Amino acid sequence: MYKLRIVQSGKEYDYEPGASLLEILLAQNIFIDNPCNGKGVCGKCKVRIVSGEVGEVSSTELRFLKPEEVKSGVRLSCMVHPQCDLEVELMQKERKHEVLSKGYVPKFEKDLDIVKQVVNIHKPLLTDQTPFEDQIKEQLSDVEFPFSVLRGFCFKEGSYTAVIHREKDGKKVLMDLEEGDTTDSMYGIAIDIGTTTVVTALIDMLTGKELADSSMINAQKHFGLDVLTRITYEMEHPKEGVQALKEAIVASINEMIADVCGQTGVKKEQIYEVCVGANCTMMHMLLGVDALSIGKSPYAPMFVKAKDIETEEIGIHASRGARLYCLPSVSSYIGADIVAGAYVCELHKADENVLFIDIGTNGEIVFSDHGRLLSCSCAAGPALEGMNISSGMRAAEGAIEDVEIKEDGVKLKIIGNADPIGVCGSGILAVVKELVRTGLVRKDGAFIKLKNLEETDYRYPMIEMDGIKRQFKMTEDLKITQGDVRQVQLAKGAILSGFYALLKKAGKEMSELDKVMIAGQFGAHLPADSLIGTGILPAEVKDKLVYVGNSSKTGAYMALLSGQVKREMEELAHHMDYMELGATEGYERLFADCLMFPEVH
Ligand code: FES
Repeated sequence: MYKLRIVQSGKEYDYEPGASLLEILLAQNIFIDNPCNGKGVCGKCKVRIVSGEVGEVSSTELRFLKPEEVKSGVRLSCMVHPQCDLEVELMQKERKHEVLSKGYVPKFEKDLDIVKQVVNIHKPLLTDQTPFEDQIKEQLSDVEFPFSVLRGFCFKEGSYTAVIHREKDGKKVLMDLEEGDTTDSMYGIAIDIGTTTVVTALIDMLTGKELADSSMINAQKHFGLDVLTRITYEMEHPKEGVQALKEAIVASINEMIADVCGQTGVKKEQIYEVCVGANCTMMHMLLGVDALSIGKSPYAPMFVKAKDIETEEIGIHASRGARLYCLPSVSSYIGADIVAGAYVCELHKADENVLFIDIGTNGEIVFSDHGRLLSCSCAAGPALEGMNISSGMRAAEGAIEDVEIKEDGVKLKIIGNADPIGVCGSGILAVVKELVRTGLVRKDGAFIKLKNLEETDYRYPMIEMDGIKRQFKMTEDLKITQGDVRQVQLAKGAILSGFYALLKKAGKEMSELDKVMIAGQFGAHLPADSLIGTGILPAEVKDKLVYVGNSSKTGAYMALLSGQVKREMEELAHHMDYMELGATEGYERLFADCLMFPEVH
């Protein structure tokens, strides 16, 4: 056993040799970016070894480390297997992340699946020994009474409140009994589990009011930043992978429930239902179901239907017998978050042509032709979330979120007005839009050659050479490389081709579109001029864009307050058609065409 000391916190940990430094740090809940899950291909897991001998720098590491970094002891933590006492300086600060928790809510009728009813127990007499259970059953004649509810009670006269769950088929089941009359309080939780962030809201189920919210980075980040890396983790850890991923997200949820309860004084025992919107993989991982089949062709999930179980079954802390409702998905890549979005945007009731798009690592698109729903999912890659970009980072303090190229220089807008330390999704999109607009990047995505610019041109000093490659200088330290532009180009090609393929399948022209709804955490931060300027969306839809915010959480909120909404979402998911782009004729050609950036006039 050796000691590991972290410079920033001064904390010391014991570790067994054998694992990589990345694994040792993650096991201690110390977060290190690891998009490639320790494969040595992303170069993001840098740490500085302050003391301790960890061996020679490998050739893999040399691909990602600058000479001055090597000199100062910087290493890729996934490539180092320490066997001594060690002092390590972390290079990524855990910063405050921006999380979108609000969104548009359509009008709907409240129709709770949880109801409360007061029952009275009279004192037993020698002449009337009616059991406690029978007295309650007499008053709740149409309610099933599981014997286990009796546990924890003793025979005491007085008023009790029966907490009753109405199941899908209308059957009523007693969840719990509470002493006294508690009919004036009933709380629930609506959750959106994103691959990156999790948002939780405490809802007063009687008034429909949101009382508090809490958000955090999905704790499964320790197992990889994206869905596929986490699935790979499950594959590589067949014994404990599924359980570890479930425990991580359940722990996050419990932490957020404790947080919203702390903010309001509501007790977790007063929470009767939890509703969750999430993509299909996150739903598998929440429920402790193997997600491997989602990661490989033909991408069949283990389940898509809605699930209604007890929260206790997966370890969520709430009232006794509290229910967990997981919204339905359509397919592996059209998850419950998209079903929620389509429902919230009332795509199933639309009397026009509406396109709904959730932009993230996967771009999910749903087209509503007067209520007939057709969907597809395109692998946009993580570039639009600021990942796989040489100086990329998530939207957090210090991230460049907007860029303008002007004659008097490059103007940057930075989250938190801090010093720039990287560029996030909206920033990378803004900079590429500007590069295209100013002609520094050509239609085919290549940087313009320096020899084609006059030295007096204001753009000339903005391009510099890195060996034989051209790159754009945002600041002295932060550059946009040709590779970065290519990443955005691939994302753009994927989304735009999905957009066109869906329209083609529906037999519609672009001009027939009435509305384009942008949903999701990342979409909300991508302004129309960036989406249009990079050609992610065609210029014709510029005036038709509507931003709907976090529709996944809103869907969970609506389901929490209405059984009718739950049934309608299940119907919607059942009737939404899914189109596999890869299996669509002519898709590769379409994708190649969509890679082109817009023409600049
Ligand atoms: S290089 Fe990707 S995690 Fe280390």
